[in-house]
Amino acid sequence: MTNQRKVVLFIATSLDGYIATENDSLDWLFKVEGEGDNGYSEFYDTVDTVIMGRRTYDWVMEQEMESFPYEGKECYVFSRTVSQENENVQFFSRDVVDFTNQLKNKEGKNIWVMGGGDLLHSFIKNKLVDEMIVTVSPVIIGKGIPLFKEMDFETGLTLKSINRFNQFAELHYEVKR
Ligand SMILES: NC(=O)c1ccc[n+]([C@@H]2O[C@H](COP(=O)([O-])OP(=O)(O)OC[C@H]3O[C@@H](n4cnc5c(N)ncnc54)[C@H](OP(=O)(O)O)[C@@H]3O)[C@@H](O)[C@H]2O)c1
Repeated sequence: MTNQRKVVLFIATSLDGYIATENDSLDWLFKVEGEGDNGYSEFYDTVDTVIMGRRTYDWVMEQEMESFPYEGKECYVFSRTVSQENENVQFFSRDVVDFTNQLKNKEGKNIWVMGGGDLLHSFIKNKLVDEMIVTVSPVIIGKGIPLFKEMDFETGLTLKSINRFNQFAELHYEVKR
C-alpha cells in the first residue's frame, strides 16, 4: 500500500490571507466568536503526524501550556539552523520531498502540515499537499505573515466542503493533480 496517507494543511487565515501579524500575534484570530472548537478535534483525530516550520514551533513553545499540545503525535520541525531532538519533536533539515514521500509510504493516519507560510511554500512548490482546510477569520489585518508566498505557477483546487463555525468559514479543498 503506497501513498495512502494524505498530507493536509489545516490553518486559519485572515480574509486578506495572513496567518499572523508581523510580530507573530494571533490576537485577531483568538478574539473571533467561533463555535465549539471550530472543527479542531474532528480534524485532529484524523492525523497522527504533525509537521511545522521552526518559527511556528518557537511560537507554540512561547505559549503558556501545561503540556506539549501535540503529545502522542509524531511531531517534526523543519529547520536549516537548529538540529535537536526532545521528547516531543524531532528537528529535520532534510529535503522535504524525500522526507514526505517516506512518511506517506508508511502506514498511518493523515499528516498535518501546520505551517507557517514559509514551510508551506516548500510543500506547495513540490506538490506535496493533498488537501487544504483553511478557516477564514472575518478580519482584514492589512499586513503580516502570508499564508501563501508568491509563486510562479498555479495550484488548482476542488472545493470539497464548506463548514460554518459561527463567524468562521472553513473551506476544505482537494489539490488537483
Ligand atoms: N494562523 C494559523 O493557523 C497559523 C498556523 C501556523 C503558524 N502560524 C504563525 O505563523 C508564523 C510562522 O510562520 P512563518 O511562515 O514565519 O515560519 P514557519 O514556516 O513556521 O517557519 C519558517 C522556518 O522553518 C524552516 N524551514 C522552512 N522551510 C524549510 C525547508 N524547506 N527545509 C528546512 N527548513 C525549513 C526555517 O527554519 P530556520 O530559520 O531555523 O532554518 C524557516 O525559517 C508564526 O507567527 C505562527 O504563529 C499561524
